Amino acid sequence: MDASEKNTIKNEKHYDKQYNNVNVESILNKITNVDKFITSATQIHTSWVGLYHNNFQAQLKGKKVLELGCGDCTNAAVMAALGAEVHANDISQYSGDIINKLNANFDFEVPLKFIYGDFLKSELALDYYDIVVGKAFVHHLTHEQEIEFTEKIVKVLKPNGMVRYFEPAVNSKVLDELRWHTPVPGRPSKFQKDKFAQWKKNDPHPDRDNSSKSYKKIGNTYFNAVNITPIGTIERFHRLLPSKYSTRFRRMAFKIERYIPENLNLFLTRSQLVEYKNPKK
Ligand SMILES: C[S@@+](CC[C@H](N)C(=O)[O-])C[C@H]1O[C@@H](n2cnc3c(N)ncnc32)[C@H](O)[C@@H]1O
Repeated sequence: MDASEKNTIKNEKHYDKQYNNVNVESILNKITNVDKFITSATQIHTSWVGLYHNNFQAQLKGKKVLELGCGDCTNAAVMAALGAEVHANDISQYSGDIINKLNANFDFEVPLKFIYGDFLKSELALDYYDIVVGKAFVHHLTHEQEIEFTEKIVKVLKPNGMVRYFEPAVNSKVLDELRWHTPVPGRPSKFQKDKFAQWKKNDPHPDRDNSSKSYKKIGNTYFNAVNITPIGTIERFHRLLPSKYSTRFRRMAFKIERYIPENLNLFLTRSQLVEYKNPKK
């Protein structure tokens, strides 16, 4: 078994545990008032601020969207509630159960469709999708998988289609090492060697290059337009504050960090929105 296959199995096991008991009621509450949810989430929660940067919500109506690594399916459900036709893929079978429950309890314009398992082996229509989305997904692939996924994405996208990923960014080795040495709930510090090694054994993130440069390189190989937006340069420090200040700090941080000079912002950022447009067919 090669490293990519081992990585996929590790991810499947990890996420099966996480998604076998998702509160679907809570997702239904979010999409029942989808405009209210999206307005709030895109001010406070990094992955939503990133993925929906520049009013992505306004681009979704009537679009054919493929979401890779749909996970607990909240984002797939939100995009469908905003009027997109959404096909959602994951290696966890439990994502499919969530989608069945969502379809049974919400009147989507077009019901969600689940694509179970390996995207590379799935038979999908060519030139079909307007948008391929991944929210905190690509960094779960090995570099080799990322290339194979990109090649297939180019085939299933329309000629004017686009890719939109929200992913962590590692553009500074020093900041990254600082992060690994700071313990957070559920992850020991690198200073605690044994505990860290034990944690790493079960961690579903492969060792890979998560720099903006790496995303740019792949993007430029397979697409005619590439854009990277840094997200979370100031927001990343919310962990240093008592939790009662967290929401207010994050809302303010996301507003302020837009004014940091671009190169510095990219160097210091914690996350990134990756946009690829017009696949090289
Ligand atoms: C960090 S979670 C993100 C889930 C969701 N997009 C979100 O924002 O909450 C990563 C997801 O990628 C999925 N995943 C990992 N490797 C995959 C693969 N090779 N194909 C499809 N899904 C995969 C996992 O099962 C998990 O649901």
